[in-house]
Amino acid sequence: MTKQASIKKRINELRDEIRRHDELYYVQDNPEISDRDYDELMERLRDLEQKHPEFVAPDSPTQRVAGRPAEGFPEFIHRRPMLSLDNSYNIEELRAFDERCRRLAGGKAPEYVAELKIDGLSLSIHYEDGVFVRGVTRGDGFRGEDVTPNAKTIRSVPLKLRNGASGIAREIEVRGEVYLPRRIFEKINAEREEAGEPRFANPRNAASGAIRQLDPKIVARRRLDMFAYDVLAGERKAFKTHWEALDWLVSAGLHVNENRRLCQSIEEVIEFCNEMESKRDDLGYEIDGVVVKVNSTALQDEFGATGKAPRWAIAYKYPARQATTEVKDIVVQVGRTGALTPVAMLEPVALGGVTVSRSTLHNEDEIERLGLRIGDWVLIERGGDVIPKVLKVVDSKRTGKEKRFRMPTECPVCGGRVSRPEGEAVSRCIAADCAAQLIGRLLHFASRRAMRIEGLGFALAEQLIEKKLVRDVADLYSLTIDELASLERMAKKSASNVLSQIEASKSRDLWHLIYGLGIRHVGERTAGILARHFGSLERLGQARVEELDDIHEIGLTMAQSIRDWFDDPGNKRLTERLRDAGVRTEAEKPARRAEDQKFAGKVFVLTGTLPSMTRDEARSLIEASGGRVTSSVSKKTDFVLAGAEPGSKLDKANELGVKVIDEAEFKKMLA
Ligand code: IVH
Repeated sequence: MTKQASIKKRINELRDEIRRHDELYYVQDNPEISDRDYDELMERLRDLEQKHPEFVAPDSPTQRVAGRPAEGFPEFIHRRPMLSLDNSYNIEELRAFDERCRRLAGGKAPEYVAELKIDGLSLSIHYEDGVFVRGVTRGDGFRGEDVTPNAKTIRSVPLKLRNGASGIAREIEVRGEVYLPRRIFEKINAEREEAGEPRFANPRNAASGAIRQLDPKIVARRRLDMFAYDVLAGERKAFKTHWEALDWLVSAGLHVNENRRLCQSIEEVIEFCNEMESKRDDLGYEIDGVVVKVNSTALQDEFGATGKAPRWAIAYKYPARQATTEVKDIVVQVGRTGALTPVAMLEPVALGGVTVSRSTLHNEDEIERLGLRIGDWVLIERGGDVIPKVLKVVDSKRTGKEKRFRMPTECPVCGGRVSRPEGEAVSRCIAADCAAQLIGRLLHFASRRAMRIEGLGFALAEQLIEKKLVRDVADLYSLTIDELASLERMAKKSASNVLSQIEASKSRDLWHLIYGLGIRHVGERTAGILARHFGSLERLGQARVEELDDIHEIGLTMAQSIRDWFDDPGNKRLTERLRDAGVRTEAEKPARRAEDQKFAGKVFVLTGTLPSMTRDEARSLIEASGGRVTSSVSKKTDFVLAGAEPGSKLDKANELGVKVIDEAEFKKMLA
């Protein structure tokens, strides 16, 4: 093949690939690659076409904005094209944007507005004399789909503008992003799973599928929401600045995201980007970055646009949270309870700012649900919880060479028998002396939220067990410096560090110990409740099942599991040996009688983002004062503690007449 022919071939391949992803994204709402990977494909194509203009064709994906109108809805030609945005992926690129803006503005630093980039789909809604008349999707940027009946089902789209359009123009167009709150997304997916339908990969796909439903009744059930981010008077911008436009939208009764900032410099923009990135997981909806816009409308007009995007705005994208990669193998890990967990070994891929090379598959049922085989390509996601999960198999990448996975019938660590009881999803190694379980128990005991013994990692735990220096967690407290120093990669210095860590762990507060024992069903929170209630390990060990079950938030399964643990003679000896070794088994503060406490018996519901504390912090404060936190508002709720963006819980509280307090009031009550 000549060089020209091979370039042409490459260009055609790229175009086909991009078209296929367009189809998956825009028509099927079922993307296989991340936006970033898509951008990269586009960039490569654009680059090749630029170097070889002889191959540019009018039907190339580079020649239009994106997307295409779906069938079933009338077409509507936008009065002013709905452009997309150029992306930037790091601070340098943001600074370069700033420099270009300053140059275009003749050397003066323009004001910017920074706002969240909501991960949904854009919608344009039209008002005539203040009355809603039409809703149109973006489509390819020039022609969209008229989805009026569906747009009307969105509660945050007012059917009449509150300020009666206050004289700006007869025809008003509001643009914004339609999205699905996370909470509703989870609900929809649970329902789909129940009905045997495939889950949506993310809220955006679910929202975009919803707005294109032909039956508005189904759309209404999806509970879509919308944040407005622009207003046009006819086909012109309605205000002198973008900031004023946003204020006007608020006064008109539209939802405008309150996380927005007027910035005097790019440094302030960067600060906003960083701040919001750390809050990303606390928002009730997905964002994929920040949009930075030049505030002055006159400057915007002056800067103009390149083919698809304005020069006066840029998206600062946060690291993608989804990616596709190959499952090289599925290995089985044995945990401290003997549970066998299949883990997907992935071709390493960058995701959310780190390289991901493995992902838990939980159990056999999960593998079955996903229909996953070794060798498959998968879409993975890494949310705020750090652990990446496999969302789905990319069917189109199947070659037929993929292999089915079988759960081993023998423990991969000790060779012991594996059993999966009827009705349970988890297979377990039932050998009592399985080394993997011992290692797991040691690591859990030493973990940060338990006894926090730094330096006791996997390699050390493995050696301690192999050399038979440690058979259970109590043995840690009789280790000598010589024993430790005799181990591989363990100099005297690090041996003595580990010893002093072990020593220090003796005085951790009681809940750390209770949690560290690894009693089934007893997590950190339960450990805290038990420590506060009983005040000592001894008293906890004597508690009857009914007594445990009577404690709020402790159910019968948990109560039984706690009782069983203490009834085991080996465990009983273990607790005695821990106490004899000098480990603190009493709570720092003696158990207080619940009725003496500030919030004794009070029920709280938390909603929205609090100004100075996380929800977990608020929860701990409430629980430490004898109150409880539940997830939904009912007549039994005493207080709703509301922060920014409170959502429907606040409405519910007002409806039921439940007292709503803010953080300041909450702190006053505590003081
Ligand atoms: S401004 C020309 N502001 O991001 C200005 N867009 O990648 C274009 N988006 O199609 C829109 N949040 O669907 C703007 N606060 C925001 C946004 C936002 C999300 C979406 C919008 C647009 C896409 C561009």
